[in-house]
Amino acid sequence: MKRITLPHTDIDAPNVVLGLMRIAEKSDDEIRQLVSAARDVGIDFFDHADVYGGALHECERRFSKALSLTASERAAITIQTKVGIVPDGPYFDFSAEHILESVDGSLAALDTDYIDILLLHRPDALAEPEEIARAFDTLHAAGKVRAFGVSNHTPRQIDLLKKYVHQPLVANQLQLSITHAPIIAQGVAGNMADVTQSITLDGGGIVDYCRVNDITIQAWSPFQAGFFTGTFLGSPQYPALNAVLDRLAKEYGVSPIAIATAWITRHPANMQVVLGTTNPDRVRAAAEGSEIPLTRSEWYELFRAAGYSVP
Ligand SMILES: NC(=O)c1ccc[n+]([C@@H]2O[C@H](COP(=O)([O-])OP(=O)(O)OC[C@H]3O[C@@H](n4cnc5c(N)ncnc54)[C@H](OP(=O)(O)O)[C@@H]3O)[C@@H](O)[C@H]2O)c1
Repeated sequence: MKRITLPHTDIDAPNVVLGLMRIAEKSDDEIRQLVSAARDVGIDFFDHADVYGGALHECERRFSKALSLTASERAAITIQTKVGIVPDGPYFDFSAEHILESVDGSLAALDTDYIDILLLHRPDALAEPEEIARAFDTLHAAGKVRAFGVSNHTPRQIDLLKKYVHQPLVANQLQLSITHAPIIAQGVAGNMADVTQSITLDGGGIVDYCRVNDITIQAWSPFQAGFFTGTFLGSPQYPALNAVLDRLAKEYGVSPIAIATAWITRHPANMQVVLGTTNPDRVRAAAEGSEIPLTRSEWYELFRAAGYSVP
């Protein structure tokens, strides 16, 4: 498993991590088997959010209850969680009051004294960066949060935060899979007239922006075709892509899911892939994509087979 020191931190992290968004219905035993499979292949980085699981903090609670971590077991892993989505309204809330209250809820649910990384989950149009900065300072000074980042943020939104927030922003979690790759595909088709792919959906250049600013991109929904539309792996809707995935999987002696993982890890931005599967076998198989050195031809072949154009 390839590991990276997250820039601006002393966090040594694998480039494939486990997201716990889908564990609410799983038994304690199934959660233990899932986490154990992850640990066995070198995944010691776990991604949560206050909203995962329906009821507030449900997945965080299910995780800590199933694992009952000792202090040394807790210290051996990196726990990341998120704040800012309030599904029942007001939808997005980056007020200091909400951030502080939610982090206290996450600490209690996760049964821990500190969160390694806290991400602002989805941009709040009413965000007041001075207030966010105040909340971050309070959390950092109290030792409740060690590092901060964002998710689904555009370059300009990050610039605005950076103007006020005192701590470095270390991560930006973004939706990215071979079939949902506008953040990469736009750059490939930049300035091409009449090519839909050249339209910016993210304020422009978020991948390069993160690289310039040493912000680690974390790819969420790495195997979903679109926005929670089901996986492209084995899907009859993607025959060309699956043919290439299957062929490369045979050539490298791994499963297609490892090749889909490698399509992301092969990108030079040192991204982290956030797995969402609750199946231990799939975790093991995906982890094999951590270091597969796809050639440029193979990488672009996958990109084109997913439907993207190369000018
Ligand atoms: N920041 C954000 O806004 C945001 C948004 C969404 C998610 N996330 C994070 O990203 C993580 C991953 O998201 P995700 O769960 O949508 O990602 P994913 O890994 O692309 O999708 C996993 C889902 O696909 C299913 N699946 C079906 N067939 C599969 C196959 N052949 N291979 C792999 N999976 C298959 C899995 O079922 P099984 O469980 O049965 O394998 C699971 O329900 C989440 O856990 C969360 O931590 C962040």
